[in-house]
Amino acid sequence: MHCGILVVLVAFFLTLVGPCQPLDNGLARTPPMGWIAWERFRCTTDCNSYPDHCISEELFKVMADKLVEDGWKDLGYKYVNIDDCWSAMVRDVNGKLQPDPERFPSGIKGLADYVHSKGLKLGIYGDLGHSTCGGYLGTLLETVDVDAKTFAEWEVDMLKLDGCNSNSTERSIGYPKMSHALNATGRQIVYSCSWPAYEDGLPPKVNYTLIGELCNLWRNYDDINDSWSKVLAIINWFGDHQEDLQPAAGPGRWNDPDMLIVGNFGLNQDQSKAQLAIWAILAAPFFMSNDLRTISADAKSLLQNKLLIHIDQDKLGQQGVRIKKDEDFQLWKRKLSHGQFALAYLNTAELGEAKSFTLSLPPLRIEGCSHGYNIYDVFDKKLVAFLTSNHTHSFRVNPTSVVLFFVRPIC
Ligand code: GLA
Repeated sequence: MHCGILVVLVAFFLTLVGPCQPLDNGLARTPPMGWIAWERFRCTTDCNSYPDHCISEELFKVMADKLVEDGWKDLGYKYVNIDDCWSAMVRDVNGKLQPDPERFPSGIKGLADYVHSKGLKLGIYGDLGHSTCGGYLGTLLETVDVDAKTFAEWEVDMLKLDGCNSNSTERSIGYPKMSHALNATGRQIVYSCSWPAYEDGLPPKVNYTLIGELCNLWRNYDDINDSWSKVLAIINWFGDHQEDLQPAAGPGRWNDPDMLIVGNFGLNQDQSKAQLAIWAILAAPFFMSNDLRTISADAKSLLQNKLLIHIDQDKLGQQGVRIKKDEDFQLWKRKLSHGQFALAYLNTAELGEAKSFTLSLPPLRIEGCSHGYNIYDVFDKKLVAFLTSNHTHSFRVNPTSVVLFFVRPIC
């Protein structure tokens, strides 16, 4: 066939199949990491009373500065994400979203320039519905295209598209539509969908094969808040439904159990370890929502733990699973690249006494490396054992806490 005709035909068929193309934007090959405003700063918009805590460009600039100055960026925390309550209450004369002019005097493009100048990336928040969960401007089906273009013009790098104030039918049209609209802008924009969370998070209402083709990450379940009980509820939900959730995740497509609240008011150091360990086992996006200006040295050292981050960011991209559960104990396991594993022993009892465990690898189906395995305690930052199939390692886990092991074959 004449080459010109072939090109025309291919182009024609590509336009036909366009709406069915997966997102495939090559982004988020490992779970994205960064900082997001919502859980800590919520919808504080009174900058006169709370100049250092209101949702304004200053807040995001300061957090960008901190991400760079305090070593976060070098560890992979690269996104600075705006959440709700950033927009003005009306669109501009051209029908485009616009930020609140007093709180974002440089515009989102100005803020993006600042964030990019620091070697970081900027995320923004939208909502598929007539208004956001906080009552700000939403994205209607008719404005999906213009909103995607606006975000691209502003040089935004990530979009979290929430789902308040829409119905199931609108979401089933709008979320795919936004995926294609973002692709069509030609800008690389990580797409975070809250779609599953608004459909109760499970099949048959949620088709995770489809979601994985359309979105880079997605919220599955309820909002986190600043409490251990909520962290545990999320852990339990992800464990209870892992058969549906685990296969959905992989490079470029991640389940999102919600923000890291480590460094805030609600978790003690033990509980903070538990959130981080299980989120790493789940191959979860690592988005901190805390105040990087005042974070304690203890919380910072947990969030900056290199082996923890290494587990979360493992290139195989396989989400871990809960392999044992009883009333006050859970054992989680994640298969990592190069025959490595992560194991999290979670003590959910609130009894004041540490619980004793013995680690033996063959019952956990960690075998095959004849020489044995080095066992690292991730939070204690030390090699605690060398195990062959004949050895065991005994240890204790504090109440509402975890011991996270990194298991490396020596063969
Ligand atoms: C929903 C989302 C939260 C946050 C708020 C903002 O509740 O799940 O993560 O974005 O909306 O209003």
